[in-house]
Amino acid sequence: MSRCFTMLKPGVVNRRLVGEVISRLEKKGFKLVGLKMVHVSKELANEHYAEHSDKPFFSGLVDYITSGPVVAMVWEADDCVALMRKMCGATKPSEAVPGTLRGDYCIHTERNIIHSSDSDESAEREINLWFKKGELYNWKDCEDDCF
Ligand code: PPS
Repeated sequence: MSRCFTMLKPGVVNRRLVGEVISRLEKKGFKLVGLKMVHVSKELANEHYAEHSDKPFFSGLVDYITSGPVVAMVWEADDCVALMRKMCGATKPSEAVPGTLRGDYCIHTERNIIHSSDSDESAEREINLWFKKGELYNWKDCEDDCF
């Protein structure tokens, strides 16, 4: 089992799509171990996207992510990061295949609906940045007994 940090951006909240997106991830079989709504500060946004600070879109990305609340989550699965990235689809909506979250719900890269960690190392860094230990739940998964 590995973990992945995932964030639904302000547009998802605005468009009343939070339940729909979470439902798709749950139906896939990911195990939800952390969930909260956060109105992101500039400091947190800057730290979260630090590796992109020299990119031309950086300030726009930070402005968007701090424009309204986001839904921050931690999911668990075998090979969680790779699986979640596959569910999200390509960063650019024009390259995101229909059936993926970005392929189905967004049309502008700047309003790309979901962030997902891109490696196990990023996942660990992002989970520690966004969640305190007591905010993650290691609940018993009945599916473990079935297979
Ligand atoms: S990724 O997902 O990390 O592999 O994608 P990458 O291309 O490296 O992009 C990193 C984050 O920057 C966002 N991004 C942009 N935002 C606004 N405008 C433009 N042109 C743009 N290009 C990339 C991209 O959505 C990634 O953020 P997240 O939050 O992971 O989606």
